Amino acid sequence: MELFERIAAMRAYLAEARARGERIGFVPTMGFLHKGHLALIRSAREDDEVDRVVVSIFVNPLQFGPREDYRDYPRNLERDKKLCLSGGTDALFVPAVEEMYPEGFATHVEVTGVTDILCGRSRPGHFRGVATVVAKLFNIVQPDSAYFGIKDAQQVVVIRRMVEDLDFPVKIKVHPTVREEDGLAVSSRNIYLSAEERRAATVLYRSLKRAEELVVQGERNGLRLKRFLEDAIGAEPLARLDYAEVVSWPDLKPLNELRPGQVLLAVAAYFGRARLIDNLLVEVKA
Ligand code: PAF
Repeated sequence: MELFERIAAMRAYLAEARARGERIGFVPTMGFLHKGHLALIRSAREDDEVDRVVVSIFVNPLQFGPREDYRDYPRNLERDKKLCLSGGTDALFVPAVEEMYPEGFATHVEVTGVTDILCGRSRPGHFRGVATVVAKLFNIVQPDSAYFGIKDAQQVVVIRRMVEDLDFPVKIKVHPTVREEDGLAVSSRNIYLSAEERRAATVLYRSLKRAEELVVQGERNGLRLKRFLEDAIGAEPLARLDYAEVVSWPDLKPLNELRPGQVLLAVAAYFGRARLIDNLLVEVKA
């Protein structure tokens, strides 16, 4: 596995690979890798449409709010390198902040319409930061395929929109959420949880599964489902609810009434200093 810190060197390596006709699979991450990232790296490695697997590690300051955890965000490059290698990564791109955003940097990518609810409402500017860094990374790596987890469902919608609108020639491939045995979605931020908060955090997935059951049993009222999720998470004393929403997929519009097709049940809550998100895409039958 080769490691690159400079954009020019990363580009030169990839230009050679492309000249040999190799197709690039790309997994962008912020590091502190876990089972979810490893699943994305393995998907890229096993993809018949990919010859060379590139992973990036970059904690992107643009996607953190001023009172968020940018400075404390967990980092462990030595451990990440080993995990990347074990997943079959060919090249690791680890740029410094000054390499990605040199003095004078002044261009941002703003996806509208799907960014004013859910995490976009609670974290103003977050998706502008995500779209900007992913656009830059796509321009540097020029991947044929890029891999994202559906745990960040709104991020997937935002990136697909950007790729379509700005004509990036990349296939976005989406992987299911990887969970711990008790259902908690894996996340780099789970490291912030105390033992008690870790137990409490399972309320997110349990509530989503119960809401899904209600849909299967015939519930079609979006507001009742939203309230159900709010009450279920609110009943956990260690949870501080950020939002619970029932929205259309993939345009993320709040739903009063569920119609046949896919709907997204999405939740976010704080457990101590950890803000955790989770969701389920639910099939509504006719
Ligand atoms: O999902 C993440 O880890 C980040 O939002 C991403 C896509 C790597 C952009 O910084």
